[in-house]
Amino acid sequence: MKVTISNIKADIGSAPGHVVTYEGNMQMAEQELAKAQDQGLIIDFRVYNAGDDTELLMTHTKGVDSPEIHELAWDIFIKLAENAKALGLYGAGQDLLADAFSGNIKGQGPGVAEMEIDERPAEPILVFAADKTEPGAFNYPIYRMFADPFCTAGLVIDPKLHPGFKFYVVDVIAHKAVTMSCPEEMYDLLALIGAVSRFPIKYVYSKNPDLGIAAAISTEKLALIAGKYIGKDDPCAIVRSQSGFPAVGEVIEAFSLGHLVAGWMRGSHRGPMLPVALKDSRCTRFDGPPRVVGLGFQIKNGKLIGPVDLFDDVAFDYTRQKCMEITDYMRRHGPFEPERLPLEEMEYTTLPSVLKQLEGRLEDYE
Ligand code: F6R
Ligand code: MG
Ligand code: MG
Repeated sequence: MKVTISNIKADIGSAPGHVVTYEGNMQMAEQELAKAQDQGLIIDFRVYNAGDDTELLMTHTKGVDSPEIHELAWDIFIKLAENAKALGLYGAGQDLLADAFSGNIKGQGPGVAEMEIDERPAEPILVFAADKTEPGAFNYPIYRMFADPFCTAGLVIDPKLHPGFKFYVVDVIAHKAVTMSCPEEMYDLLALIGAVSRFPIKYVYSKNPDLGIAAAISTEKLALIAGKYIGKDDPCAIVRSQSGFPAVGEVIEAFSLGHLVAGWMRGSHRGPMLPVALKDSRCTRFDGPPRVVGLGFQIKNGKLIGPVDLFDDVAFDYTRQKCMEITDYMRRHGPFEPERLPLEEMEYTTLPSVLKQLEGRLEDYE
């Protein structure tokens, strides 16, 4: 059976400030999706949050980029934003950039990770969503799970994974995309995806045509305007697992470093990606640190079994401890790089006005 999995997300308002979504809004989203399920538009759904982002996970048979599914998500976000405005939630409707729905939610503000799969008899699906960072934040873990033999043992010892995977990489500046094959082009791939904010990975594919798509990552807002840095967009990702794909544990292992990502306070800092349980999906310290949640499902005929809260586990206590040490260390740099991002990646800056004020005092130097 062909099934489409769509994770569509938006920040439509939170409390207090940019900390966490509002419970009442999440319930409202659930009621709306339950109606869509009753009408037969979607097969199944879950609503969850990544910090201040509301995440709608849906399964259906409409394919990727379905106007009906995208409109459903758009209408729900509009409804939630209206409620957020009425309640005075912070940043109400902040991710809804367009005035009206125009056929595809991409380019209208919300983020989308979507894949259509030929559902296997037992299909494990892992969904990740992060807050206070950017789509390129997934480059490191996605690379590790699908190309790094020090993370994914199966690349070396499982004949089904041994051929490697293909990566579809977007250049958000040149507004181009390229598909690269690993392990053959590993060094060239790394030359691109190491520059995380310019070259986010959008899709990963198995080299086995029977398996097809392996992962999908949201990169929407980034791809909107070529040739110009346009800020960060809290990302989400869907990853297939087992029997020809990385095992669940290999996928999860990829998040064990607490790698440094861009975002955090005012989208202008660098901090560790903190893997947390859903109950800790709230950004507090310095509006962070940037956090990621992981939800594990089995899916059968589009019906979701789960979630299992993947980072709600003592096995991640050490990573979290390390992340908080990195947090302290980075914060002690205050307004200095590399804690503060380089000029071209900052979402907030006073530099033009400071330079303007200094205009009359600027002199040639020896
Ligand atoms: C980062 C983020 C927050 C805000 C910060 C200032 O993605 O959402 O760190 O940038 O709280 O917010 P404003 O300018 O709304 O006061
Ligand atoms: Mg917000
Ligand atoms: Mg957010």
